[in-house]
Amino acid sequence: MTPGRRHVRIARMNAAIPDLRPWFVALRDHARGTARDLVEPFDWKIFWGNDRPVELEVGSGRGLFLLNSALAHPEVNWLGVEIEFKEGRYAARRLQKRSLPNARILGGDARDLIDRFVVDGSVQAVHVYFPDPWWKRRHHKRRLFTAEFVQQAARILPAEGRLHLWTDVGEYFSLACGIVAESELFDAPERPPERPPQNDLDYLTNFERKKRQAGETIRRAVWRRNRKPSPAVRRTERWPLPGRVRREAVPGE
Ligand SMILES: C[S@@+](CC[C@H](N)C(=O)[O-])C[C@H]1O[C@@H](n2cnc3c(N)ncnc32)[C@H](O)[C@@H]1O
Repeated sequence: MTPGRRHVRIARMNAAIPDLRPWFVALRDHARGTARDLVEPFDWKIFWGNDRPVELEVGSGRGLFLLNSALAHPEVNWLGVEIEFKEGRYAARRLQKRSLPNARILGGDARDLIDRFVVDGSVQAVHVYFPDPWWKRRHHKRRLFTAEFVQQAARILPAEGRLHLWTDVGEYFSLACGIVAESELFDAPERPPERPPQNDLDYLTNFERKKRQAGETIRRAVWRRNRKPSPAVRRTERWPLPGRVRREAVPGE
């Protein structure tokens, strides 16, 4: 395809993508390698227009957790990050429909977001629900919940800040518990109990619903950040990217 025709095709693609700002913003403008709407590092007061506490969900999928949390807790700002733009946009449309001022999704790699944009001690909680298990041993390096991730999460949490993990994958859960214990950056975990759903949509996330309805056991942990200083952690370039970061056409280009 000639450069001219390619340009026209990209322009058409972009015109077809609805602009969901501010509910969905791509973390990087892949075309230029820089974030277009975002200034790093984040000043939450500018980002949200208020200084309410911020909680971060990593891998929001279809956004059930963000939506319900934002409705139940308007006193908190809820930020999701989702590497699959199609999913992120789906979730963002749910937030947009209700014009929720306290929930947004960023499209991109959570590790990139935390690494480049999130200031030390600036979020009250990091939520990780049903991270991709990457079953094959040779793919384990693609898993999100690694020692580096735990260190980065610890860096952006203040003392007493929470790190939540729920998964149906027992082996991944045990490894994650070991990683957090070894980091010595969190207290011993609490184990939130299972709650019987009151209706068909009464689940924390879409994956919780799917897995519980399939009869799977869900492992849950919440760790509180202790007062030990975070080690200096650098940085994303070292981490293997899962090869799923999508190049996206950005509205308006
Ligand atoms: C198994 S799904 C769970 C989705 C949702 N948390 C739920 O429980 O319904 C895992 C999600 O994490 C996203 N994800 C995986 N790696 C990610 C990363 N590095 N940054 C942001 N999102 C990621 C995937 O695209 C996927 O939507």
